[in-house]
Amino acid sequence: MPKITYIDYQDNSKTIEVANGLTVMEGAIQNDISGIDADCGGSMACATCHVYVEKEWFDKIPKAEEAEVDMIDMAIEPKKNSRLSCQIIVSDDLEGFTVTTPEKQS
Ligand code: FES
Repeated sequence: MPKITYIDYQDNSKTIEVANGLTVMEGAIQNDISGIDADCGGSMACATCHVYVEKEWFDKIPKAEEAEVDMIDMAIEPKKNSRLSCQIIVSDDLEGFTVTTPEKQS
């Protein structure tokens, strides 16, 4: 199981093991990570799972599809490295993957 690091806007970080096949959002929900609410349960309809992906990782993961890009536009304070954590599938390739949660989502 890869270790995923979640950092909040105050720079507090938690590193947890997330099972392959789950999403980065599901790993957060199962481990009470603040700042990721995932109100829609992963159906890409809420943007409350919005995260900023560390630059070194952003280009390594599959690019966001158009529907995700549209939903990110509705997220709070989107940036160039914004993604919806419910659309990032965990695999061994994500060992060390790191995301930061937006301040206003906390
Ligand atoms: S959980 Fe709602 S868009 Fe990701």
